Amino acid sequence: MMKFATDAGEAKLLTLVRKEAIEDWKASLSATDRTWADQSGFIARLGDVLLFPNPDGSLREAVGGLGSTTDHARGRFLIASIAAKLPKGVWKLPSDLDDDTAEEAALAWLLSQYRFGTYRAAPSHGAQLIAPDGIDADRVEAIAEGEALTRDLINTPALDMGPDELEIASRALADRFGASINVVSGDALATDFPMIHAVGMASPRAPRLIDMRWGASGPNLTLVGKGVCFDTGGLNLKPGASMGLMKKDMGGAANVLGLAHMIMALGMPVQLRVLVPAVENSVSGIAFRPGDILTSRKGLTVEINNTDAEGRLVLADALTLADETPPDLMISMATLTGAARVAVGPDLAPFYTDHDPDAAALEMAANRVQDPVWRMPFWTPYEPMIEPGIADLDNAPKGGFAGSITAALFLKRFVTETPRYMHFDVYGWTPSAAPGRPKGGVGQGIRALVDAMPEMLNAG
Ligand code: BES
Ligand code: MN
Ligand code: ZN
Repeated sequence: MMKFATDAGEAKLLTLVRKEAIEDWKASLSATDRTWADQSGFIARLGDVLLFPNPDGSLREAVGGLGSTTDHARGRFLIASIAAKLPKGVWKLPSDLDDDTAEEAALAWLLSQYRFGTYRAAPSHGAQLIAPDGIDADRVEAIAEGEALTRDLINTPALDMGPDELEIASRALADRFGASINVVSGDALATDFPMIHAVGMASPRAPRLIDMRWGASGPNLTLVGKGVCFDTGGLNLKPGASMGLMKKDMGGAANVLGLAHMIMALGMPVQLRVLVPAVENSVSGIAFRPGDILTSRKGLTVEINNTDAEGRLVLADALTLADETPPDLMISMATLTGAARVAVGPDLAPFYTDHDPDAAALEMAANRVQDPVWRMPFWTPYEPMIEPGIADLDNAPKGGFAGSITAALFLKRFVTETPRYMHFDVYGWTPSAAPGRPKGGVGQGIRALVDAMPEMLNAG
């Protein structure tokens, strides 16, 4: 689906015009076309489309409005709103676009074709694009496809995306790219991954730890994604309004799997490992309780002050395993806290790292590929907040100060051997549709990571 068209012979030209450049553009037209543009009232508002006919009435070409400087400052993927309104058929962009613009436009176009069509027919708009000159079309397709995987995984309801289905999806990804995969599930987790077991055992859908490896040479990169397939909150049950969207609580897993897809499809020179603790945080007589003290894989004890702070528990055991064979770089992604959503909203991906060059590389890449991120601090002075006294760690510090930071500090306690650790506290969801981003699951930070990866991995 999300591919470029190939028969360039059929393609009609789509010219793009910014609102500020409308007069210059009109001046370049023939008298007939200028009259047509004037009388049609085309003023290059964002998403406006004007079609030009041939004398015989057939379609010759189109122009799309890219909106104003304000539209550009406020949005991204703007061409997606044009693509969605074009007649079906094959389109090409002018050959004089600069490479960055062409690449963003090409990606935006493919993303505009994304549909979540599992539960009802949802045909894409029929306007297809010839890959613009100067871009790496295979690369853009691989990235769009990885993003679509992330969206599909998040959008699929928990009924059909439990721990078992998340394992199946991971196996499908591994099969496609010749990755190896190992899964530990159910009671077998009790001794080696006690906190994954504790969080997941209340559900009849067995918890598991998915461990995928790919690539024979290059720097070692380990990704860890929170795979809470549904988060009821556990015995500290969430109120209805807070539980409604919790099918997306495997958004971290969906993001790392989408990122893994991109890395493998692009054949990046890395030794990749992907770990996903997949559980359902459910309620039953054998659910873990507030006040329980769990002993983690690392040996650190954790006092449970809120069963709804489950993500850090399952991630901690996965991070511990990852840290036992320290990679050059470890990245975790998780829909970890409501505090992150309150702090930066749904568009920005908050990330943590103590490594300034990685942060700089990521921020530059994020700007290049329109995948915004925002750096947050592993703020050491807050460490006492996660130390309850009765155990080594507290999973839910009272008071709720700096909730995303204290969650990040909690995770970092389990990464002691790996030289560079980066953590993302993402939202994973677009609450209202924007160009190229329909309401629903969305990748965050993964396109920026792909773009930054060569620099991050060669730095060391
Ligand atoms: N999955 C939630 C975090 C979340 C909530 C992400 C809403 C995005 C939107 C997580 O498991 C959770 O419930 N966190 C608690 C932690 C608290 C109990 C310390 C939270 O953020 O309220
Ligand atoms: Mn929770
Ligand atoms: Zn959760």
